[in-house]
Amino acid sequence: MHERIVDAVQIQDDGKEETLRPRYLHEYIGQQGIKDNLRIYIDAAKLRQESLDHVLLYGPPGLGKTSLAHIIANELAVNIRVTSGPAIERAGDLAAIVTNLNEGDVLFIDEIHRLPKSVEEVLYPAMEDFAVDIMIGKGPSARSLRLELPPFTLIGATTRAGLLSAPLRDRFGVVSHLNYFPVSDLQRIIVRAAAILVVPLDEDGAAEIARRSRGTPRIANRLLRRVRDFAQVVGDGHIDYALAIEALARMNVDAYGLDELDHRLLLGIIEKFGGGPVGLDTLSATVGEDAGTIEDVYEPYLLQMGLLKRTPRGREVTAQAYTHFGKRYPGASD
Ligand SMILES: Nc1ncnc2c1ncn2[C@@H]1O[C@H](COP(=O)(O)OP(=O)(O)OP(=O)(O)O)[C@@H](O)[C@H]1O
Ligand SMILES: [Mg+2]
Repeated sequence: MHERIVDAVQIQDDGKEETLRPRYLHEYIGQQGIKDNLRIYIDAAKLRQESLDHVLLYGPPGLGKTSLAHIIANELAVNIRVTSGPAIERAGDLAAIVTNLNEGDVLFIDEIHRLPKSVEEVLYPAMEDFAVDIMIGKGPSARSLRLELPPFTLIGATTRAGLLSAPLRDRFGVVSHLNYFPVSDLQRIIVRAAAILVVPLDEDGAAEIARRSRGTPRIANRLLRRVRDFAQVVGDGHIDYALAIEALARMNVDAYGLDELDHRLLLGIIEKFGGGPVGLDTLSATVGEDAGTIEDVYEPYLLQMGLLKRTPRGREVTAQAYTHFGKRYPGASD
């Protein structure tokens, strides 16, 4: 499948993401409310020499959940053990991981909504009582043995908080919801990344890339790297407004950060369904994309931008989307 340059999910090209990953809270740009709270919880835990409460991070892909998990461990000056929901298949796998943690360590479980039920049940006492019950033997002679664990901090990350079971969600003391970044924060992220990559970039160039980054730091960094390629090959290596505009146009990323796929979706609703409402399944058949992909990947940003609306009767394109495509909104009065 063709890779979308504006895909919020990690693509192969992002291999060098590590160098740009913020490592401490002061390097992490934006999400001020979340950072302020984390700062207090981290300092309080250090003051009391206790492990930090379990933290749940949720929000769309590419907004910095993995980065924050590493930042928390760095700020606490503890080790981090990284795993993911789908990687832990059996209860025994989880027991092996948690019994190997040291006091105060961070256990990071990415995609925690994909943890099997049987594993989740082992996680409850581990989170609540710092203990795991393991079964020894089989059949009638089987008995359960309780192992005490050192206090640790579980950090769970998910893009789908709705898929988390209530008992699991309730066991997190800190729940942080990451929202799309405003353009001003993305601009600062781009300026920071350009400094690390040693790319000459002016303010208007950074602002233009920021506006087309779909509220997502991962996309901002990716667009910056691609625009840098243009600057070095077509230009004189310097990224200014005109070069950013030209490069982004050549990449088919429009002024709102929309690509051909977004256009197909929105124009499909406008041209084939008079702007909607149209049901998700009908839409899926029309644009030839899986309904789940439309819902999880395309729609969140279009909804956030106010280009698309979810109504009880289906998806509707807004007046703003008509304006964006230079079309007259049928709902508007003359
Ligand atoms: N606040 C920030 N400041 C600077 N750079 C950031 C920030 N947040 C994220 N980034 C950059 O975006 C990249 C992607 O972030 P990260 O991998 O933490 O996202 P994620 O939420 O874990 O994504 P996924 O849901 O795909 O796992 C990072 O490598 C980092 O370079
Ligand atoms: Mg991640």
